[in-house]
Amino acid sequence: MKQTPETVVLLNFGCRDIQQLARAIRDQHIYTMVMPYTVSCERLLQEKPVGLIICSDSATCGQPAAREKFRETGLPLFELSLTAGQDYTAQVAAAVDFCCRECSCRKSWRLDKFIDEAVADIRSQVGSERVVLGLSGGVDSSVVAALLQRAIGKQLTCVFVNNGLLRKNEPETVQEIFARNFAMDLRYVDASDRFLDKLQGISDPEQKRKIIGKEFIDVFAEAAAETNAPFLGQGTIYPDILESIPLDGNPAGVIKSHHNVGGLPEDLKFQLVEPVERLFKDEVRQVGRMLGLPGELLDRHPFPGPSLGVRHLGAIKRETLAMLREADAIVTEELLKSGWYHKTWQSFAVFLPVKTVGMKNHQRTYDYVIALRSINTVDAMTAQIVRLPWELIDSITARIVNEVKGINRVVYDTTPKPPGTIEWE
Ligand code: XMP
Repeated sequence: MKQTPETVVLLNFGCRDIQQLARAIRDQHIYTMVMPYTVSCERLLQEKPVGLIICSDSATCGQPAAREKFRETGLPLFELSLTAGQDYTAQVAAAVDFCCRECSCRKSWRLDKFIDEAVADIRSQVGSERVVLGLSGGVDSSVVAALLQRAIGKQLTCVFVNNGLLRKNEPETVQEIFARNFAMDLRYVDASDRFLDKLQGISDPEQKRKIIGKEFIDVFAEAAAETNAPFLGQGTIYPDILESIPLDGNPAGVIKSHHNVGGLPEDLKFQLVEPVERLFKDEVRQVGRMLGLPGELLDRHPFPGPSLGVRHLGAIKRETLAMLREADAIVTEELLKSGWYHKTWQSFAVFLPVKTVGMKNHQRTYDYVIALRSINTVDAMTAQIVRLPWELIDSITARIVNEVKGINRVVYDTTPKPPGTIEWE
């Protein structure tokens, strides 16, 4: 039986900052959920909310019929109007006051309690069966691995797929961290050649993504089938779910799960175990810390599923991929050393398949280019470039052109999102 904390539902009437608001109220130990204004009362009441907060941007309002529908539930109701992007400390204080005074919330939402409840839920869902989990070394799947390990121990098998496009030392680091912290059955599948062979000569970004995605599913499905597990663990988190619900396009308001390993073959029928689907990203990190995962894993920059494949422009060759991997490691090392790693959301190297003329040791060179990208963002929908100190850019440049054979030039990407995207492909 799934445990339900005391819940306040935020009804989205077109409020851009609603996730941040939901998160800020949770910080006050009140559990919040977000639902679109089109949600049916039946669906809403399934969550047994103790109160409702209608949230709109100052620019949007209306939908009187929907407001009336929620009023008729008889639940305490509060209206908040936020101006997108503005500080809403006062409104949150008012919302928390509403939750405590009018909904009698006891401020009982605690992440340590969440862990105990999640462990109990996993045990009751899974019983004595086996669970297989694709472990990528990213925050979400790592935390799910740690939670599942605590809940069901030896019934868990983790599969780590090396797609040949990972960062320097990544397979070793992830395996070492998990071996050091958890006695778990972690299977390492080195499928580098399979991926790189399939990618040979392919330069179209979409085609590259599709090949990497499909190959991953094939490799993972093969490894998962060997475990005979009826359950598949997934690192779905709350924003994944929220982002898959259109504000007004889903009349039943049914919350759809976002399938991280979507597209698994039909004959592999798994039941999903998604223990962090109710948490925001930084709550997932906090849970990870409480479970003993090290900061080197929890505080890493986001890394895309197609890995270095979308940072190596054009057709991927093993030789040039190795240049990108070295350059990327230098960027990370220098950022960590200077303290800038944790001040940026993402900073990375991109390989450009363009040769330019240069000079090394008094000799003419004709080598490739690395672009350096550093951005900050709140939700990855828009992003600002980071003005890294020149001294840092200098030292990164000097190390890349000196240490990475085949690269003789480094350029800095000054494009925000939009019009650029964060990744180059
Ligand atoms: P873009 O390039 O779309 O990236 O501005 C936004 C954020 O998403 C990450 N990203 C991905 N993550 N699979 C992922 O898991 C992907 O295919 C993918 N593409 C981009 C990107 O690193 C950035 O944080």
